[in-house]
Amino acid sequence: MKVTVEDDRVSVSRADGAREEYEIGSPEAFRVLSKLWLRSGWDAKYVYSFTWLGRPIIQLPEDLLRLQEVIYRVKPDVIVETGVAHGGSLIFHASLCKAIGKGRVVGVDVEIRPHNRSAIEAHELFSFIMLIEGDSTHPTIVEQVKAQVKPGETAIVLLDSNHSKAHVLAELNAYAPLVTQDSYIVAMDGIMGDVAGAPRTQSDWAWNNPRQAALEFVAAHPEFEIEEPVFLFNESHINERVTYWPSAFLKRVSA
Ligand SMILES: C[S@@+](CC[C@H](N)C(=O)[O-])C[C@H]1O[C@@H](n2cnc3c(N)ncnc32)[C@H](O)[C@@H]1O
Repeated sequence: MKVTVEDDRVSVSRADGAREEYEIGSPEAFRVLSKLWLRSGWDAKYVYSFTWLGRPIIQLPEDLLRLQEVIYRVKPDVIVETGVAHGGSLIFHASLCKAIGKGRVVGVDVEIRPHNRSAIEAHELFSFIMLIEGDSTHPTIVEQVKAQVKPGETAIVLLDSNHSKAHVLAELNAYAPLVTQDSYIVAMDGIMGDVAGAPRTQSDWAWNNPRQAALEFVAAHPEFEIEEPVFLFNESHINERVTYWPSAFLKRVSA
């Protein structure tokens, strides 16, 4: 595919000879440019350039805003996240819990490096956070996490640890039982399937990614559906997320 950008239009020439031209402000042009922007950002490591209240957070800002919309709507008692890294996402969730006046955060990581643990434990919002160190799919760790969610509580689960299809599928199977009706388990970073072949990728990412795990999980679990988060406010011409998390939000639709 060859994309030509002019001041007021975008032209796309496809390998089969087809050619499309879009006004720069059209949803179609925005989609084409966003796809390129995501790929450029992947190569440039754009997501490795943000902090939240002092801690590095490895996320695309739009994904955080959309997640905030979901968290504010669901108002969970517990937000579980696998994959802590520097702790910025745990602080992000904790800041929402504090602002909403409800909720606490459980973070799981196979290795919480001492300097990250110290910084998270020293943070103003640490009282909202519990850290659990270990493989997120190990039965002992899964039990420790489950013990943090009391019967009748609402939980949102975010999967941002090892992004192989097998690991995410194992996490979905382990943690989906925590998710109550109308809440979500989120399989993050499905973008891997779209950037396979780019720097810092592996050739099997085209299939070995969280999105494929999510698709396989919902095919076997009709109590979950993949749902695009509704835009709560939208006076734009755009109605698709620009995201690292395609097909990520699995909503429990029945018991
Ligand atoms: C992408 S980072 C998490 C980023 C973080 N959620 C954020 O938004 O800033 C992935 C983390 O997953 C952890 N991880 C990798 N394999 C894991 C596993 N099997 N169980 C738990 N954590 C794992 C890594 O140690 C790493 O810290």
